[in-house]
Amino acid sequence: MRRVGIIGVGEYLPERVLTNAQLEKMVDTSDEWIVSRTGIKERRLASESEATSDLAIKAAREALKSANLAPEDLDLIIVATVTGDMPFPSTASIVQNALAAKKAAAFDISAACAGFIYGLSIANQFISNGAYKNALVIGAEKLSSVTDWKDRNTCVLFGDGAGACVLSEVKSGGIVSIYLGCDGSDLSLLNLPAGGSRKPATRETVDNRMHYIKMQGNELFKIAVKTMTEAAQIALAQAKMTFKDIDLIVPHQANSRIIMAVAKRLGIPEDKIYLNIERYGNMSSASIVTALVEAVKEGRVKKGDTVLLDCFGAGLVWGACIINW
Ligand code: UT7
Repeated sequence: MRRVGIIGVGEYLPERVLTNAQLEKMVDTSDEWIVSRTGIKERRLASESEATSDLAIKAAREALKSANLAPEDLDLIIVATVTGDMPFPSTASIVQNALAAKKAAAFDISAACAGFIYGLSIANQFISNGAYKNALVIGAEKLSSVTDWKDRNTCVLFGDGAGACVLSEVKSGGIVSIYLGCDGSDLSLLNLPAGGSRKPATRETVDNRMHYIKMQGNELFKIAVKTMTEAAQIALAQAKMTFKDIDLIVPHQANSRIIMAVAKRLGIPEDKIYLNIERYGNMSSASIVTALVEAVKEGRVKKGDTVLLDCFGAGLVWGACIINW
């Protein structure tokens, strides 16, 4: 089996900033509530003319440049998203065409906030078994398109953005372990009820605001803390490592209180945790990858460092991944 590592990173965050102060004018909320309950200060919103693929393409171009590869070097493009441009064809097809990645197979995966780690694991398999040489894994979301701007329980939480990584064979380091999980027994905790084959769009679904994210945050919070703690422990056990071996944890950015509760349970000091939730909110598939990209750009991840990615989301799905940089 070949060793597989991340050889290039990129991101794109839309220019428009929506602050908590602006949200105070839209729903019955306060900056104090949002910051103290979630850690979020502002989030980015794509413009009306920008779709998820537009964000993904910009992140992909930056990742290819940082990997020093041309689009035609790519064998595979995976886009993790729950807000694709349209139900079909895939957003990955749109990205493949825009990049002119003529050799690449391309598809989307839907694993919500765990989408990027699920995508990493698929690309890892294709490269480690020798089927493909270079893969591009993107996490991209325009969650503002499915956010109910009249629901204070959810609209303060989400944002838009994209991050991308190029994976290839590496001589040293690379992905050490990946653990993925799913429990589909309670879909009602976090979902988007209409617009699929179960409830196609009708006047009634629109009138009932069923094309927006529905969430039971409080219940999810408890499961997220437990599940992310266990996922990190399992990925470490698979790698025969302990937390002492980890230089930085890059968790899914749903709520800073969830992240700190996980850190406390695992006995990890706060300075080993990377947070960017205050600037972007929860971007589902795009959260963990943009956090990783920014940690690399800021020098928080250096050559030889060992990084732990840890996530949880709608499905419910979860995953953890250890990478030696
Ligand atoms: O991305 C992966 C999956 N997502 C998650 O894992 C998210 C997990 N959940 C959370 O992050 C938190 O549960 C939330 C941030 C969503 C909510 O925080 P909470 O501390 O669990 O609050 P709560 O839902 O228990 O609500 C507490 C109170 C309620 O008022 P009452 O019933 O106590 O009077 C809510 O109505 O806060 C109220 N509330 C708000 N108040 C001001 C809810 N949203 C807001 C708001 N502004 N935006």
